[in-house]
Amino acid sequence: MASSSFTMFLSLLSLLFPFISSSTSTTTLPLSLFNTNPSQDLYSKLTHLASFSLSRANYIKKSQDSSVSTTPLYPHSYGGYSITLGFGTPPQKIPFIIDTGNNFVWFPCTKKYLCTNCSQSIPTFIPKSSSTARVLGCLNPKCGWIHNKTSTKSRCQDCSGPNCKQICPPYTILYGSGSTGGLALVETLDMSNKKIPNFLVGCSMFSSQQPAGNAGLGRGLASLPSQLGVKRFSYCLVSHKFDDAGKSSNLVLDFKGEKTANLSYTVLQKNPVVAGKNALSVYYYVGLRKITVGGQKVKIPYKYLKPDFNGNGGSIVDSGTTFTYMNRYVFEPVFNAFVKQVKGIPRTESIEKITGLRPCFNISRQEKLSLPELKFHFKGGAEMALPLANYFSIAGETDVICLTMITDSGAFGPELSTGPSIILGNFQMQNFLVEFDVRNEKFGFRQQVCK
Ligand SMILES: *[C@@H]1O[C@H](CO)[C@@H](O)[C@H](O)[C@H]1NC(C)=O
Ligand SMILES: *[C@@H]1O[C@H](CO)[C@@H](O)[C@H](O)[C@H]1NC(C)=O
Ligand SMILES: *[C@@H]1O[C@H](CO)[C@@H](O)[C@H](O)[C@H]1NC(C)=O
Ligand SMILES: *[C@@H]1O[C@H](CO)[C@@H](O)[C@H](O)[C@H]1NC(C)=O
Repeated sequence: MASSSFTMFLSLLSLLFPFISSSTSTTTLPLSLFNTNPSQDLYSKLTHLASFSLSRANYIKKSQDSSVSTTPLYPHSYGGYSITLGFGTPPQKIPFIIDTGNNFVWFPCTKKYLCTNCSQSIPTFIPKSSSTARVLGCLNPKCGWIHNKTSTKSRCQDCSGPNCKQICPPYTILYGSGSTGGLALVETLDMSNKKIPNFLVGCSMFSSQQPAGNAGLGRGLASLPSQLGVKRFSYCLVSHKFDDAGKSSNLVLDFKGEKTANLSYTVLQKNPVVAGKNALSVYYYVGLRKITVGGQKVKIPYKYLKPDFNGNGGSIVDSGTTFTYMNRYVFEPVFNAFVKQVKGIPRTESIEKITGLRPCFNISRQEKLSLPELKFHFKGGAEMALPLANYFSIAGETDVICLTMITDSGAFGPELSTGPSIILGNFQMQNFLVEFDVRNEKFGFRQQVCK
């Protein structure tokens, strides 16, 4: 088949070159698991993933406006996904965490880059070594993309007249406990088959707790797909069991928008427009309408499945969240359905207390394990039936398995009442090809083995 040999060709190319590649209509970038802490055992890792997923949910749900957007990067340090992009002339290759919950692209920048509480040294971009790097001027409309101010007057206060030389004010992004800040540049993005001049990118001079730069894939003018004019993009998330194995799949940027075979689609929902909550405009909202456990519909109050006038409620897809977050009114019925349907396997509440995950079951006496199927049903009829490994994980060296979805009514403090009710995380989408068709406003997926 022509298309499969083409895919093969692309993946061979991507082995030969650090990043790549392609025809006129698509660009394919290798997508790797990003793990800064490979020595952790699976048990403490689960615990970390759970609390970091919740910390991300916390900040996504608060959706405060800082100069760009507010979403924590934490979960990335333990199994996020990264790509490599080349910036500058000649190109300098820099790894970026992909993040659909964010719309800004930034890299660690200059020799003086200061990162506190960062577990490893990461390559930084050196503007002086690039002949095409320019500091963004405050009159440039792109400065308005990151400063929430449409009028140049408000962001160029020291300016008079069209010869204004003032630079775009520095940005700061708060990500939960972490942060980053610096100056915006326009620089050439080198995509092997084409060069994109004047790409808006953040040159971060200081960060805290950031494992790498960040490539925002969210909605909004400054994101990677928007700046490239991509019609849609897709990725396949390799299993977290390869966290330490350096396995990768691809992020595919599609400029033309040809049909992908066998995808189930649901329409992307309109983003809530709420004053002071611009961050909500970045997320990909989907119409999750029903959850079934073991074929039985879980009773979830409908009001949580759609955003209200305050932007509370609804479901988003987020590449930067590991374990799916559900607010307690959604989670509790799902939890109860599992507890009710899993018969003859003892629960292990001691492990639940430690990991923050529940329910957990002790499977040491089980010869054959059979657990209820979990299925997400989307508006328009698309169904996502999850393989078992996408919603149960073994807790460390024990004989215990835990449901890998989280809520905020348990171990980690008070309820987060605002923002999306459901944040679909990357753990639930392992070995799924997911596609964000931004031109046709659709979200598509199909189960497959991600190489
Ligand atoms: C670094 O991490 C420690 C422990 O997690 C924390 O107490 C401290 O505030 C952090 N420092 C910064 C600058 O983020
Ligand atoms: C962003 O712009 C809106 C509309 O101009 C304004 O109401 C809001 O206060 C601004 N937010 C920030 C953080 O500057
Ligand atoms: C699409 O589905 C059909 C029928 O299940 C299968 O034969 C075909 O190989 C699939 N194509 C791709 C690209 O997965
Ligand atoms: C699981 O059950 C077995 C057998 O009943 C027991 O020996 C083991 O300690 C239990 N594991 C945990 C983590 O509770």
